[in-house]
Amino acid sequence: MKGLLYKKWYLVLAILVVLGAAFCLFSPAPKVDFNTEVKPILNKKCISCHGGVKAKGGFSVLFREEALAPTKSGKPAIIPGDGSGSEMIRRIKATDPEDRMPYKHPPLSDEEIKTLETWIDQGAEWGIHWAYQPLKEIPLPEENAWAKNEIDRFIIKGWEKLDLSASPEATKEQLLRRVSLDIIGMPAPDSIANSFLKASDDRAYERLVDQLLALPQYGEKWTTMWLDLARYADTRGYEADRGRTIWKYRDWVIKAFNADKPYNQFLIEQMAGDLMPNATDDQYIATAFHRNAMTNDEGGTDNEEFRTAAVMDRINTTWTGILGTSFSCVQCHSHPYDPIRHDEYYKFMAFLNNSRDEDTEAEYPLLRQYASEDSLKLEQVRSWIQQTSGESKAKEWYLFLKTWQPTINSLLCDKFENAALVSSWYAGIRKDGSCRLKDIQFNQQPQLQYRYITWKNGGV
Ligand code: HEC
Ligand code: HEC
Repeated sequence: MKGLLYKKWYLVLAILVVLGAAFCLFSPAPKVDFNTEVKPILNKKCISCHGGVKAKGGFSVLFREEALAPTKSGKPAIIPGDGSGSEMIRRIKATDPEDRMPYKHPPLSDEEIKTLETWIDQGAEWGIHWAYQPLKEIPLPEENAWAKNEIDRFIIKGWEKLDLSASPEATKEQLLRRVSLDIIGMPAPDSIANSFLKASDDRAYERLVDQLLALPQYGEKWTTMWLDLARYADTRGYEADRGRTIWKYRDWVIKAFNADKPYNQFLIEQMAGDLMPNATDDQYIATAFHRNAMTNDEGGTDNEEFRTAAVMDRINTTWTGILGTSFSCVQCHSHPYDPIRHDEYYKFMAFLNNSRDEDTEAEYPLLRQYASEDSLKLEQVRSWIQQTSGESKAKEWYLFLKTWQPTINSLLCDKFENAALVSSWYAGIRKDGSCRLKDIQFNQQPQLQYRYITWKNGGV
């Protein structure tokens, strides 16, 4: 009787096992997600040989159409829907070390192989890099007595997984020190500190933060990050590293932060302030963002070479600063990890590849600031031209007096007779000397003005 009962049990167990196996076989595997499961394996284990730089065996896993295209062998390595029939899976499962991928590296784990195979079985779908996907609203985790805002609720949710809980709240002195260092980079002024320490109402901390944000030091501290991204420096960067007078731009950035300038305006003015209608001096100064590029005025350097270097620097800075992407890599090869192709670098370059850079002594063109009396005269000249010749002439002359543009630099001279190019910056001419400026388009300008220096008393 007992024996029979056992047997029955075996039978039931056996049926359960068979059913379980059938369930596993016939229920579809959960959908493999390209971005979170597949891409990390490809990036870590394959892309150094099969990516934007090298495509060994004619196989690249950077873009879907490349990954599905025929390789050197003439056949595609990935056949969507057929993992076991795909060369890629055969190669990662191979036992011959000459054949097995990753080549000359440890094999993939069983789990990684399974992920890749299932992904191909499910159609080898690609995904958009997470950074380029539109934001989706996600439901908020439930409320919690500790949470003071929505972000806190996500933090608590994270703790739950790690079995953590909150430490007791820091003392007022500690909070004061931390938030002061964070917002203004130094201890709070006594008056602000004392009023916070004395206050006992619920809004005391909030008030402290507002007071700190209202201090000029807030902008001074927080702009350091942007100024680093904008590669702000008071020198030119190459060779003798001569000085550069560009602090007005630094002040502009600090003011923008302290005045809470909207981010879009902050960017537009730096990218193209000079192209805005009736651009103000401040908007011109903002464009120094793009003039922070290093300039090389060492004798004998090639102007076009360093003009191009400056343009590329502007491209890279734009992408790093505004888009947070290492676009600079794409100068030489498709991005190894991000979906950006080599030629896209040069397409983007077209936006900025229209500047003129020459080795000029003071990094002309500069924006001239007129002292109070002269600025009054400047305004008189402007309004006189406006009355006599119209608005557009007035603008043209105003711009000329502010920037000295358009200018032809004498460093473009040749055919020196008793004359020479001085420090590769400007033409120097001795008594009765001469040199030539060739291929200059005057566009029917009736006047040409010279700017020259002489060190001889009464000399020319
Ligand atoms: C260290 C370099 C290196 C790494 C890393 C590497 N491979 Fe390869 N792979 C090669 C070379 C070299 C070839 C061409 C010679 C050959 O076919 O064996 C190749 C060829 C291939 C081919 C055959 C292409 C054809 O001709 O059809 C496939 C598929 C492949 N690799 C997949 C992968 C996968 C998947 C990974 C990552 C799991 C990977 N490889 C990692 C070097 C590498
Ligand atoms: C000035 C040109 C240049 C820039 C800029 C550049 N690379 Fe490269 N990179 C190369 C060259 C050339 C190779 C190929 C070397 C070879 O074939 O062995 C390469 C190879 C690679 C490889 C292939 C794997 C390897 O180790 O050989 C990776 C990955 C890579 N670069 C990543 C990057 C990243 C990331 C950036 C930007 C942060 C970048 N590169 C910027 C020129 C550049």
